[in-house]
Amino acid sequence: MNISEIFSQKFGDSAEAFSIRSPGRVNLIGEHVDYNDGFVLPIAVPLEVNLKVRPRMDRRVELYAANFDDLRGFSLDNLTHQQTWIDYVQGVAHELAGASVPLHGFEGVVISDVPVASGLSSSAAIEVGAALAFLHLAQQPMAPVDVAKLCQKAENKFVGVNCGIMDQMAVAACRENHALLLDCRDYSTRQVPFRLQKHSIIVTDSAAPRELASSAYNERRAQCETGLAQLQIKMPHVSSLRDVSPEDLQQYGGDLDPIVRKRVQHVVDEIARTVYACENLEKDNLEVFGECMNGSHASLSELYEVSSPELDWLTNWARKQPGVLGSRLTGAGFGGCTVTLIENSGVDSFLENQPREYTAAMKREARCWVCTAVEGAQIL
Ligand code: GLA
Repeated sequence: MNISEIFSQKFGDSAEAFSIRSPGRVNLIGEHVDYNDGFVLPIAVPLEVNLKVRPRMDRRVELYAANFDDLRGFSLDNLTHQQTWIDYVQGVAHELAGASVPLHGFEGVVISDVPVASGLSSSAAIEVGAALAFLHLAQQPMAPVDVAKLCQKAENKFVGVNCGIMDQMAVAACRENHALLLDCRDYSTRQVPFRLQKHSIIVTDSAAPRELASSAYNERRAQCETGLAQLQIKMPHVSSLRDVSPEDLQQYGGDLDPIVRKRVQHVVDEIARTVYACENLEKDNLEVFGECMNGSHASLSELYEVSSPELDWLTNWARKQPGVLGSRLTGAGFGGCTVTLIENSGVDSFLENQPREYTAAMKREARCWVCTAVEGAQIL
């Protein structure tokens, strides 16, 4: 059944209903740098959360998640944690109320083909989608960057996940056929044309559990803070690792604890690498872009230590295939997805062989998608 059929079955008349699409994202390069004021370069992908909702007369939100066959609701006057997906919607309501947006109740269906917990930002997609629903009913437009900041706050404060700004910005602000170069220091963006003619992007879900992800993520953030505080003793003018160049680190990083030094090395290199990769993308030097992707993965694996046997296997395998220019883990790591840049001529055999050989080697079922850059979240 499609979303309209499910809507009619659950809620009947759809005269006042409206629809929202809110895509997942894949980051091409710039990993674990958003919370260090660095640059990231995501695209929105054609795996999407879709909502169809209509206003209610009372102050309740009732949503049916078709994927989980789960109807959940809450009162806008009593937001209490339910420890389930509806908390993303409640968190957004909480932040919008805090921003003095008048909230109206609604009901409807949410359906998603963004795989859950695979690092393609299904949570940011539902947050931004919910924000657009509330804002539409309040007849209060909001700039994508403000929607993203508000949704990040919802995730940080209400849901309790300490993420950076990348995912919500990608979902809210990406444009079709463009990658989003986001400066996480001042939230300025550049839409970088990304309409590949002879190449494709393949996203592969490793289907490996991400249990460690949140504790390790917080640990990495803390290590970056420790590194920054120590560097500031010798470099009092720096306010984030963004201000530290690879040369600075060479000069002043000698006293850092070896683990902290590795983490900081990744961050300063990755920020420089992302700028360089983006310059080359803009000049259509995809070979160089691919090398940067490989360099990013090596750094995430060896210095930042957020890869996994599965992600290393998938990216190593990818690099040996005909036509592959680069392959790396994408998102927080510890499971989740890889992203591969490949010539079109190699795509079919890649799609056919990677899942099969991965299952044989790693005993898990990978899924692959060829992804174009789609438009960020919108009311349809
Ligand atoms: C997760 C977070 C992002 C970002 C990435 C790593 O996706 O939500 O904010 O930190 O990890 O680049």
